[in-house]
Amino acid sequence: MANSNATPLHMIDLILKKRDGVPLNEREIGFVAAGAAAGTIPLEQLSAWLMAAWLRGLSLGEIRALTLAMRDSGEKFSPARLGKQAVDKHSTGGVGDKTSFLVAPLAAACGVAVPMISGRALGHTGGTLDKLESIPGFRTAMTLEEFEKVIKECGAAIVSQTPKLVPADRVLYALRDCTGTVESPGLICASILSKKLAAGLNALVLDVKTGSGAFLRKQEDSEYLAALLVSTAEAAGTKTVALLTDMSQPLGTTAGNFIELVEAVDLMRGKRPTESDGDNSDLRELSLILAGWMIHLGGQASTPEAGYARADAALADGTALRIFLAMIEAQGGDASVFKTPKIFHRPGATEVVKAWERGFVAEMDTTALGWAVQRTGAGRENAGEPVDPHAGIVFHARRGAWVEKGRPFATIYATNDELLAEPIAILKQAIRFSGNPPNQVELVGKIFTRDSAENYLHDHVR
Ligand code: URA
Repeated sequence: MANSNATPLHMIDLILKKRDGVPLNEREIGFVAAGAAAGTIPLEQLSAWLMAAWLRGLSLGEIRALTLAMRDSGEKFSPARLGKQAVDKHSTGGVGDKTSFLVAPLAAACGVAVPMISGRALGHTGGTLDKLESIPGFRTAMTLEEFEKVIKECGAAIVSQTPKLVPADRVLYALRDCTGTVESPGLICASILSKKLAAGLNALVLDVKTGSGAFLRKQEDSEYLAALLVSTAEAAGTKTVALLTDMSQPLGTTAGNFIELVEAVDLMRGKRPTESDGDNSDLRELSLILAGWMIHLGGQASTPEAGYARADAALADGTALRIFLAMIEAQGGDASVFKTPKIFHRPGATEVVKAWERGFVAEMDTTALGWAVQRTGAGRENAGEPVDPHAGIVFHARRGAWVEKGRPFATIYATNDELLAEPIAILKQAIRFSGNPPNQVELVGKIFTRDSAENYLHDHVR
């Protein structure tokens, strides 16, 4: 237990301790989280501590303590008044990952309440909030009363962690983004779960990415993160499952801001890309699988497969679309932009990149593709900068597809002409063509539940 009568703590001591590989105790970890939230620890000291934590790693005890201290750094949401099971989904971050826009209304359509507290773009990955804010008027910063009202009205709401809600993560997340300290299992776990636990969830479905576009690219690191997340959330009292999912290529056809929303809304309208536009069956399938688990854990289906079938029906009959558009309006957004998205979407510069070789798309460095998207203007280089709602990249060919030289491979939407060259150069470096098709990769791999997570951590001590 933290001892409030103990001698005062000093941030420099905690930096030195972590730098030298000595684990911090619960009180010391609490001091870091509370100081980050209150702004009493200078950003340079927090940055140094984050780098020490990144380099040295965090013990299971430190990760649990950090998660809970961050959760407790601000106000909390209590979903008891919603009268339904509160279930959410969170991904560890990917490129073109827009499943939140689909799973939130799908689960809501099937009787689950979805209080979603999301993040902004981080490193090479896109942010749900940045994408939503491309809708004119859409408010992600809401009071807890407003949050509750929208969920009661629509079944789902997607908001940011405000200065009052998980303020420690707001500060640490932005710092990690610009100090090269994102890719740490412990820091990722505490960041994600602090937000999810502050939302008072009954259950949580985690989409842990693996492959070239994941923060943790190696399979064993993704497995460790998945087990860590499940075990930490379960220990805090939230029923949790984690699915390891493929991020060896962008999810769906688009990566950016408004263009990702249009892709999600088109799917909810039953509109699929034409063959020359690309293929987004992976986005559809993953969204239904994740929503199926949410519906199952929320007690609205006896198995995840039965949940999938319910979600599929809500996608087909237009319920999910109606809920999503209602949620946009309830959060102040102008949903009419989806009536004629081509008129609203006005990028500063557009270029179609033609395939520069012929062959199978054998490999995609999806992290590099994520940076290419960021450099179009869709992401930020420094914390707090605005992002371009219209920027991003449409991918017309997927991993494993055969392409002829000269056929459209990607369309780049950038803020201005000057911002076209860099993403194009990155794109060309990031793709490898081959005369042979690549190995198939499973969309969903291992699934971790409480017992398998505990067994995994027991067998894989770090
Ligand atoms: N998503 C988060 O909320 N935090 C991370 O650190 C990574 C992904």
